[in-house]
Amino acid sequence: MHAVHRSFPLFRSRRLRRTPALRALVREHSLSPDDLIWPIFVRAGEEMREPVASMPGVERLSVDLAVGAARHAQELGIPVIALFPYTDPAKKTEDCAEAWNPDNLVNRATRAIKDSVPDIAVMLDVALDPYNALGHDGLVRDGEVLNDETLEALRKQALGHAAAGADILGPSDMMDGRIRAIRSALEDEGFKHTAIMSYAAKYASAFYGPFRDAVGASGALKGDKKTYQMDPGNSDEALRLIAKDLSAGADMVMVKPGMPYLDICRRVKERFGAPTFAYQVSGEYAMIRAAAQNGWLDVDKAMTESLLAFKRAGCDGILTYFAPMVAEALG
Ligand code: PBG
Repeated sequence: MHAVHRSFPLFRSRRLRRTPALRALVREHSLSPDDLIWPIFVRAGEEMREPVASMPGVERLSVDLAVGAARHAQELGIPVIALFPYTDPAKKTEDCAEAWNPDNLVNRATRAIKDSVPDIAVMLDVALDPYNALGHDGLVRDGEVLNDETLEALRKQALGHAAAGADILGPSDMMDGRIRAIRSALEDEGFKHTAIMSYAAKYASAFYGPFRDAVGASGALKGDKKTYQMDPGNSDEALRLIAKDLSAGADMVMVKPGMPYLDICRRVKERFGAPTFAYQVSGEYAMIRAAAQNGWLDVDKAMTESLLAFKRAGCDGILTYFAPMVAEALG
């Protein structure tokens, strides 16, 4: 960039801040409904909606209501919804077999949504934690989260989700080698159009707490996920992981959590120029909501500002529980 130095009063930065029209004219980044992926929690039953206590404004929806939410998303111009299951504890096992049950909650919801709202894209997480009696993203033996054995389970899960009609798979488990394993399974079985958005730089974060409540994984999980999710002190490692996942067949990459890791978003976008997303996770959402409930900040303004930050950091889009609210605010 060529810097021109003009000193006061030739230069007055306030000239272009004086009116909304002038500010709009020179604004560098903006937010649009096209940038949004809306994560939705799905539960069993019919006409059931159940609030998630730690995420004000977020509900678990039965499949029929999830279809309604998909329609609402489409009306608002949101291109993608991501479905997460609240699995009946009786269906959680140590072998996580419910993950590849063709009729599990998210597979049923995906089919129902694709039937009634065919144009919205559906994204499904590939990870075992919602199905695991032990709460981890991988299979566990003698206290160890097993890497290679988990890959086979993830391949089966991914194929079930692709067969149900998922447009995008989001491997979020952080096992080594998962992208290559899933991509080769998809190619072998003829799912050549299924896109992968890798949760490539996913940190072992305290900000996932409310999500684990929402999917009912908090009770099951003993310990933490530090042996597979990234250490919050690392930055170069994120670039190495992203490079690996892109070369293993990921179409898009994600950084997670979002706001505390905007530096990573910027580095990833600059280095690879690939479609880059951030997940504004449950804890980030809960913080803004909780402060707003106390009257400590304006939820609409804090929401919009927090999401715009991702665009400024170089992200192409954001997974956010605010998606319908911000899409409405954007008109
Ligand atoms: C599961 C998964 C998690 C999230 C998305 N997929 C939780 C975790 O890794 O423990 C977190 C999303 C959020 O906090 O909003 N692998």
